[in-house]
Amino acid sequence: MTAKTTASGTSRTEVKSLNDAIALLTEDHKEVKKLFKAFEKLVGSEDVEKKKDVVEQICLALTVHTEIEEEIFYPAARAGIDDDDLINEAEVEHASAKDLIMQLQAMAPSDEMFDAKVTVLGEYIDHHVQEEESEMFIKVKKAKMDLIDLGEQMFARKAELMETMGAGIGAGSMTGKSKDSPHGKSARS
Ligand SMILES: [Fe+2]
Ligand SMILES: [Fe+2]
Repeated sequence: MTAKTTASGTSRTEVKSLNDAIALLTEDHKEVKKLFKAFEKLVGSEDVEKKKDVVEQICLALTVHTEIEEEIFYPAARAGIDDDDLINEAEVEHASAKDLIMQLQAMAPSDEMFDAKVTVLGEYIDHHVQEEESEMFIKVKKAKMDLIDLGEQMFARKAELMETMGAGIGAGSMTGKSKDSPHGKSARS
């Protein structure tokens, strides 16, 4: 990995910080936001293939993300910060999001409720992400937790899940690097 020189100085710290748990999750959040933005441009369009493709990517990204949070990050946060209510609420929100994801996966993109369902999921995730970033992550950063170790565990688990769950999807790798939605450009009107 190449060390980037930043205003913060120490390149080692910088490289580490890119690998920490919060950085990984925040990067995932951005990735998903981009996908919802790509879908926004398709709302009302009859290009069901594109819609299906973007929504498959959204569902995969969210399923993997919620899984690594629930398996690794939330339990660590629960132990590290003294705020069970916050983690409980996040878990309840995940359950609702997963319910919407399951409904979407069972729905044809041509269904008249499809766009609405994706839009509501996007709004819901937006709200959840804001709570994570503005509350949970702040508390976690203040707690004495090994965010690098957590990040490494999550990174490995994420790669594993992407491989198994993403196998059937032509979306390729969305391992948090820089893959834009293939529709980002073509969908722009
Ligand atoms: Fe979450
Ligand atoms: Fe998250």
